Amino acid sequence: MNSIDHKERDAKKVEEMFSDIAARYDLLNHVLSLGLDIRWRKRVAQETGRCDSIPRKINCQSILDVCTGTGDMAIELCKFWKGNAHIEGIDFSHGLIEIGRKKIKNANLQDKIIFREGDAEKLSYKNEQFDAITITFGLRNINNRLKALKEFYRVTKTGGCFVCLEFSQPKGPIFAKIYSFYLMIIIPFVSKILSSDPAAYKYLGNTIRDFPSPVELVKLIESAGWRDVTHYTLAGGIVAIHRGRKY
Ligand SMILES: C[S@@+](CC[C@H](N)C(=O)[O-])C[C@H]1O[C@@H](n2cnc3c(N)ncnc32)[C@H](O)[C@@H]1O
Repeated sequence: MNSIDHKERDAKKVEEMFSDIAARYDLLNHVLSLGLDIRWRKRVAQETGRCDSIPRKINCQSILDVCTGTGDMAIELCKFWKGNAHIEGIDFSHGLIEIGRKKIKNANLQDKIIFREGDAEKLSYKNEQFDAITITFGLRNINNRLKALKEFYRVTKTGGCFVCLEFSQPKGPIFAKIYSFYLMIIIPFVSKILSSDPAAYKYLGNTIRDFPSPVELVKLIESAGWRDVTHYTLAGGIVAIHRGRKY
């Protein structure tokens, strides 16, 4: 497949691209992030425990993980809440969701996690259904991000929260140069060897370079209605975690 236009992010093409790379998606994620993606998702799960001002006092009974892919974030949430929360994961890629379903079957978590195929911009849930919404490495790929953020807000209960993990750009000039080399040269090289669709990883680099800065993202999240939006970066600015609340 040819690299898709990262500015346009045509939903059908994005869905096809992720389904094409499904078989090796997890492997490449772990290899290209040097295993750090696992730690970053754990941080997101911990953040759902801080949705309230008093840590771990919120009763997160139901959590929706949007753009769940192969379900690693949903599984991490299940571990963090020790199976006491109902977790749903949605994604429009049939290929990735199927892998997620196999994982939860193998881990015997089918009664704790449900995966559905669905569009982040048009969630098929009633208003105020979830205590928390998470999205990891998904927002970058969504065609109409503001529309999706408003949907997340709509389905979240008053008092609930939103946690987003996304790639960012390191600030330090030297590290930024090294990282840019990694994105544009190393990642396409490794993906040529390991992936069925190296063009997908060119798209990855382009979306990262073009994604709003953490401060711009705060504004976008706020414009969808979320309050108290805060953020911090990890791994020298490679990724950022944003958090917001619904009053
Ligand atoms: C980079 S993957 C992230 C998957 C997973 N959250 C993770 O942490 O590995 C991005 C995911 O977003 C999904 N996606 C993009 N736009 C979407 C939309 N509008 N509705 C549902 N899923 C979408 C893709 O199918 C893909 O699984």
